[in-house]
Amino acid sequence: MLILCVIIGYALGSISFSTLVGRWFGKIDIREHGSGNAGATNTLRILGARYAILVLLADIAKGVVAVGIGIGLGHGNPWVTYLSGLAAIVGHNWPVFFGFRGGKGIATTIGVLLVVMPRSVLLAGLVAVVLIALTRYVSLGALVLTILTPILGIVLHSGTGKVWLAVAVAVLSIWRHRKNIGRLMRGKEHRVFSK
Ligand code: G3P
Repeated sequence: MLILCVIIGYALGSISFSTLVGRWFGKIDIREHGSGNAGATNTLRILGARYAILVLLADIAKGVVAVGIGIGLGHGNPWVTYLSGLAAIVGHNWPVFFGFRGGKGIATTIGVLLVVMPRSVLLAGLVAVVLIALTRYVSLGALVLTILTPILGIVLHSGTGKVWLAVAVAVLSIWRHRKNIGRLMRGKEHRVFSK
């Protein structure tokens, strides 16, 4: 059952909504524009708020659904739940249907963690939103969100398994944002409304 749930989670995550929305509504490949990332932030830059919200909600939803399927088919086995969610994030980042060129997994991560550890991710999300509003660096907010969630998970006694999931997600996020981190350190990061 674990393998089936991981495959379903990965396939769901591999539905790259920003790439689809870019193709359908903008007649472009979002990955060839702006930051080149297949995600809601780049959709906001290139196609505007309406499509970005659509992508954001769809990417969050696929994380929620992947975990939901893991809970259902795994009969509540926590590792099936966690690995289904992780598989969805991996699918988002390296989508099998789109030449393995995806996004950075943040919206899907939010979807997964909203089900698994809602208090931690909501609190971390609040801090991230304030930071993004102040700096207009979405990447900085995304990094703070993913790094803060496992720390809050420890503080709020979420349990070892959940904290390990959040740590794995944070490591993935840091890896996917490595170029953003370099640009942030050099003061050259793209702000949300600039290309
Ligand atoms: O979630 C992606 C965001 O953190 C950064 O996106 O397009 O600025 O690289 P982007």
